[in-house]
Amino acid sequence: MIQFNPFDYDFHEDPYPIYQELREKAPLYRNEEAGFWALSRHADVLAAFKDTTRFSNTSGVSLEVSGLGENIEMVMSILAMDPPRHDKMRGLVSRGFTPRRVAELEPSIRALATTYLDRFVETGECDWVADFSGRLPMDVVSEMLGVPQGDRDELRTWADLVLHREEGVRGVPRAGVESSGKLLGYFSEMIEGRRRKPGDDLASVLLDVEIDGERLEDSQILAFCYLMIIAGNETTTKLLANCFYWLGRNPAQRAKVEGHPERIPDWIEETLRYDNSTQLLARTLLVDVEMHGQRMEAGDKVLLLVGSANRDEAVFPEPERYDLDRATVEHLSFGRGAHFCLGASLARLEARVSLEEAVRRLPEWRVDEAGAERVHNPNVRGFSKLPLTFEPA
Ligand code: HEM
Repeated sequence: MIQFNPFDYDFHEDPYPIYQELREKAPLYRNEEAGFWALSRHADVLAAFKDTTRFSNTSGVSLEVSGLGENIEMVMSILAMDPPRHDKMRGLVSRGFTPRRVAELEPSIRALATTYLDRFVETGECDWVADFSGRLPMDVVSEMLGVPQGDRDELRTWADLVLHREEGVRGVPRAGVESSGKLLGYFSEMIEGRRRKPGDDLASVLLDVEIDGERLEDSQILAFCYLMIIAGNETTTKLLANCFYWLGRNPAQRAKVEGHPERIPDWIEETLRYDNSTQLLARTLLVDVEMHGQRMEAGDKVLLLVGSANRDEAVFPEPERYDLDRATVEHLSFGRGAHFCLGASLARLEARVSLEEAVRRLPEWRVDEAGAERVHNPNVRGFSKLPLTFEPA
């Protein structure tokens, strides 16, 4: 009997042996007590991502029940919609997320990275999470949304509280609920302000877009702003630290990047495949579905184990090997199909610019593994603390 429970601490330390067992022996796994099914093979996870008529997003994508019922769209926006409604709304919000708008952010992302690095390059040590990776992604979202500099620290504090989980506590704590109210209040005022006096930011663009006579309501723009914070913040923070952790542990791979900044994208993609910050996504069945000789019922929750799909030997030869030369295009770290991460190109840009600046300015960097601390969360994989040492400037 395989015991798979995404809340187990042992599982967070190293989920990969359990994934391998699941792929081999229980490709459709049932946890009766926790009330979910889990798909672990690449082919099945990919098929489920693409099958929006049976695998629905409208009850949320996390293992925990949202408790929001029909209001879920108010905070999860397009992530909690199914086609065709999803596609129409995504078409509208994508207007604010064009490749040109993302590319234009590069100079400001570089400036942010430089500001944070300047604060510690002379000391020879930092906590990469507290001093850099936990800060930059939220600033980038703020930049994109047009949040003034002076408001950003407060916004960051609220966003951190929304996402923070004490060890062992399930569900959103009270401080988190209060902070999400503050964030929604802040964005709501900001949107009203932009309606009176539009700028060049995402909120202003979204107020202006129109497709076939359809426009976005203020509440829909508000929900989308909120989703950007939830979806774009912690995921990128964790990616940046996972990159340092895994490259630090693999000197032969490190040698490929050192002095070769053009290999940084390969470093990012292999880290996404090898140890993604988003380990699983939930779906809810709209109809009965039979797979691997078992029948699931409409309304059942199914976990798509992205972290396992990315280590499936059927797609990635010797999947346990961290290798910057391998083909990574089949990794599912940004999802697939209708909900494919809208921020994928932004996340890649943030990671590339941050790592370019960091390796240039932190010579001889070393990860202090003994001082590293993991987060314990069923979905998010990565570090809450990652001390680095390097040659002081
Ligand atoms: C390493 C960083 C990131 C990872 C691993 C990641 C991963 C994902 C995944 C797996 C999905 C699909 C969810 C599903 O199918 O249910 C998704 C959706 C989404 N992501 Fe990301 N993401 C990252 C960064 C970002 C950033 C920086 C932003 C924007 C600021 C962003 C915005 C979104 C949005 C808006 C969606 C919803 C798309 C839709 O429902 O159509 N993400 N992300």
